[in-house]
Amino acid sequence: METPPQKLPKTFAVKSFGCQMNVYDGERMAELMTGEGLTPADAADADLVVLNTCHIREKATEKVFSDIGRMRKDRAGRGAAAPMIAVAGCVAQAEGEEIVRRAKVDVVVGPQAYHNLPKLVAQAAAGAAPVDTDMPVQSKFGALPARRKVGPTAFLTVQEGCDKFCTYCVVPYTRGAEVSRPFAAIVDEAKALVDAGAREITLLGQNVNAWRDGDERGLHDLIRALDKIPGLARIRYTTSHPNDMAQGLIDAHRDVESLMPFLHLPVQAGNDRILKAMNRSHTRDSYLRLLDRIRAARPDIALSGDFIVGFPGETDAEFADTLSLVDAVGYAQAFSFKYSPRPGTPAADMTGHVPAQVMDERLQRLQAALNRDQHAFNQASVGRSCDVLIERRGKLPGQMLGKSPWLQSVHLTGDHAIGDLVPVTLTHAGPNSLSAEPALSFAA
Ligand code: SAH
Ligand code: SF4
Ligand code: F3S
Repeated sequence: METPPQKLPKTFAVKSFGCQMNVYDGERMAELMTGEGLTPADAADADLVVLNTCHIREKATEKVFSDIGRMRKDRAGRGAAAPMIAVAGCVAQAEGEEIVRRAKVDVVVGPQAYHNLPKLVAQAAAGAAPVDTDMPVQSKFGALPARRKVGPTAFLTVQEGCDKFCTYCVVPYTRGAEVSRPFAAIVDEAKALVDAGAREITLLGQNVNAWRDGDERGLHDLIRALDKIPGLARIRYTTSHPNDMAQGLIDAHRDVESLMPFLHLPVQAGNDRILKAMNRSHTRDSYLRLLDRIRAARPDIALSGDFIVGFPGETDAEFADTLSLVDAVGYAQAFSFKYSPRPGTPAADMTGHVPAQVMDERLQRLQAALNRDQHAFNQASVGRSCDVLIERRGKLPGQMLGKSPWLQSVHLTGDHAIGDLVPVTLTHAGPNSLSAEPALSFAA
């Protein structure tokens, strides 16, 4: 049955399911729709619901289709008040027209085309089911409204897309080729974010350290420019690829005070045969040597990573190399996943798929090791003095929650406002967070 023509929506909700860039895109779509005169509402009663999707693993994609199924049921119950459903994000890019056929949604819009959302919504209201998965050379950013109101921490996309083609990964297909935003546009957006209340900015890119301004400037030049913005206390960036970790960026970790001592540098596996089959183009040894250089520049840096267990053909001995690499590095935190075959990627057609039970067991062992190291890192932080950036209220009366420079969650009590940078001493460490007391100040 055709979807009947609908009225133009007056209220909207955006639900984001993916990575930090997906969250950033969700925020920008919300700003765009607000600029068009729509009012934000709960997904349960909004006239327009934007599902901002992720395609990275099968589970993420399935979640979208179960969400759409649920919404379509609700929609039957809501009759004339049924919401318009727009599918955005990486599933929209990967599946395009197929989603309209399979799930009968009203709008499909890819991650490089969402500046067209208002136009597509108007077309849907007129009875069409538009699909826009173009990847225009002309950047969407110029067509988006300026940033307005943000919390103390904000995301800022500086680079999009990936040319690395790891054999398991859909991102090069859903986000397209590596593109860097221009220097001046990024600096302007950072200033707007600071004016809107941000004290910390996390620069985002699928390969953020591949950011380039022509052949001349790299990410470290951008960081040094942002460091000069008054009121911007903290700079972070994610996600980096080991092969794009230039010496200039490593030096910035030594020299730039507002650049936080934290680096998310995914390795994926600890065995060279698996790394080669993944097309990672770094080895175990080159990765470890790179970490040595980074630690030489910034000895207290907190390291983070991503891991995949059960890549096709991975043997027990090869998996053991991942565990020994984890032991060698001592990560402050990390994400680990079971390999998920993705349609259209080379690894999906490889032989030797690892049984689910073996993957479960490997993931458990890896996560036990990573949790152990995270707890150890937190315990080693006890006694350190640092600033905590207050992000929100805690559950207990008077309790506030914030982040240390090493991206640890820190609880403290006291009369602090969201956005304050509070000097503290870290006093107690749990596996996932720390407590702190105000730093003692000695009057001269
Ligand atoms: N460089 C990217 C990585 C995106 S994907 C970024 O901007 O974050 C995040 C992580 O998901 C990857 O580092 C990898 O560990 C994991 N991943 C990607 N494809 C996967 C797959 N097919 N199965 C399981 N995990 C996957
Ligand atoms: Fe995916 Fe590899 Fe690109 Fe990261 S570097 S987005 S894992 S293809
Ligand atoms: Fe997912 Fe797309 Fe991000 S696939 S991880 S939302 S780039």
